[in-house]
Amino acid sequence: MEELIQRATEELINAKYAIALTGAGISTESGIHDFRGPDGIWTKHPEAEMEAYQAYDKLLRDPKDHWEQILTPGSFFSLFDELMNALPNRGHHALAELENMGILKLIITQNVDSLHEKAGNLNVIEYHGGVSKLRCMSCNTRFKREEYDLEKLRMEKQLPPRCKKCNGVIKHDGVYFGEAIPSDVAQASLEAAWKCDLMLICGTSAVVYPFAQLPRIAREKSTSGGSGNERTTHTAGKSPKVTIIEVNAEATPLTYERVSDYIIQGKTGDILPRIVDEIRKRRGKDG
Ligand code: APR
Repeated sequence: MEELIQRATEELINAKYAIALTGAGISTESGIHDFRGPDGIWTKHPEAEMEAYQAYDKLLRDPKDHWEQILTPGSFFSLFDELMNALPNRGHHALAELENMGILKLIITQNVDSLHEKAGNLNVIEYHGGVSKLRCMSCNTRFKREEYDLEKLRMEKQLPPRCKKCNGVIKHDGVYFGEAIPSDVAQASLEAAWKCDLMLICGTSAVVYPFAQLPRIAREKSTSGGSGNERTTHTAGKSPKVTIIEVNAEATPLTYERVSDYIIQGKTGDILPRIVDEIRKRRGKDG
């Protein structure tokens, strides 16, 4: 472990465009369950996962009924209530420190808990949306959750909430299974995967697509040896060689398929602060 911490320290210091990809595992030490770990929401409530898979179809078929259902206490959405009051943990603060140091340029997170922003990161892409936001299904405008009194709309039989700009149907910003990733988010994430020369993947089982494709895109661009001048759907320009580091409690398909260069196995709340401490020490020494 120590040798890998030193190696990751060195590679982060030398990176020109390091990004982090995070999943629910970085938030478990904030008291938020992950999905597929031993204590995961889907592990313990397989019926809730089935409900989640059907949510998007129900929303498309009957938005009013969908909203009435998810505003009813006890629906699978209430499993997310624990997110609202959670606080960032040492793993989140370590990534905020890496951004402050000018090392980490961006976080692309699958998490909807907004804990990276609460920890102070300014450059965050919420790949699966955010629990504190609502989004119009027609014009893609996002609204803060508090801009709508959902309970009042429910009581007055005014559901579904309507967009203040185009009167389209409003949904939670969180991306449902089967729903496309919003195009602005998808494009920005692809560009970052193409541009980065270091990808730090923290607390994800890397089994959900298209997010799990991002490390593969970074790996392929690097091994394809392409001059990087080919025009692609992602972006033009030279693509640098990439180092992909996993920090996770368990090995993932990225480990087994050697998409990542190595995994530092353990808790993000332990490992990430140790890497930040090592970088501080090196910088202190080198001035
Ligand atoms: N430190 C490091 N790794 C951890 C920690 C921790 N403290 N706690 C859990 N893990 C690991 C688990 O072992 C697991 O490998 O984090 C990973 C979490 O994986 P998932 O529970 O599958 O979460 P995630 O990868 O974010 O899921 C992706 O699935 O249901 C959808 O939309 C949901 O965004 C989510 C997506």
